[in-house]
Amino acid sequence: MLQLYDLFFVSSNPHKYKEAKKILDSFGIKLGFFKSELEEIQSNSLKDIAIHKVKNAFSKYKKPVIVEDDGIFINSLSGFPGPYSSYVFKTIGNKGILNLLTTKRQAKFVSIITYCDKKTIESFEGKIIGSIANSQKGNGWGYDPIFIPKNSNKTFAQIDDKNQISHRYKALKKFSNWYLHK
Ligand code: IMP
Repeated sequence: MLQLYDLFFVSSNPHKYKEAKKILDSFGIKLGFFKSELEEIQSNSLKDIAIHKVKNAFSKYKKPVIVEDDGIFINSLSGFPGPYSSYVFKTIGNKGILNLLTTKRQAKFVSIITYCDKKTIESFEGKIIGSIANSQKGNGWGYDPIFIPKNSNKTFAQIDDKNQISHRYKALKKFSNWYLHK
């Protein structure tokens, strides 16, 4: 039978899948999608959260899967919201984050991509440093309208090359190097 996909991205977020698919396409890996809200443990470690999610995903679909867990870490807030970024986005949102900040605006976005098949679980981390904009700019999803990558004056929502520089790109590039040589 013709194998359409090499592995599957399991997430409730189609934006993440769209970006991940584009990135893995560029490395010659065909990524399918299972839209699913996976149980998420509370932890200070994105990696522990991702490992828990990927085990659930593999036991549900019994196919090679990847899951992603992300966080935005703001220096002047001691790394907040970090692993709680999803909850903070749903509650106070970008407006709430902007209201918390004064002049110090450095931040980083971190992505953990975790892969699982019958034999292996492996995690890969990607980071991008930058800053939080003074106001929301552009129409991107999630924190895109407030995150400005270093050496740019535009937010993730305003730039065309997000998928060539993002935390997600960096984690998936490491994953691809490993996956294609395993
Ligand atoms: P999650 O817990 O991995 O789903 O992600 C944490 C939060 O960060 C969620 O609110 C996501 O929407 C947001 N997020 C993750 N990656 C990005 C991105 O590339 N752009 C904008 N927001 C993101």
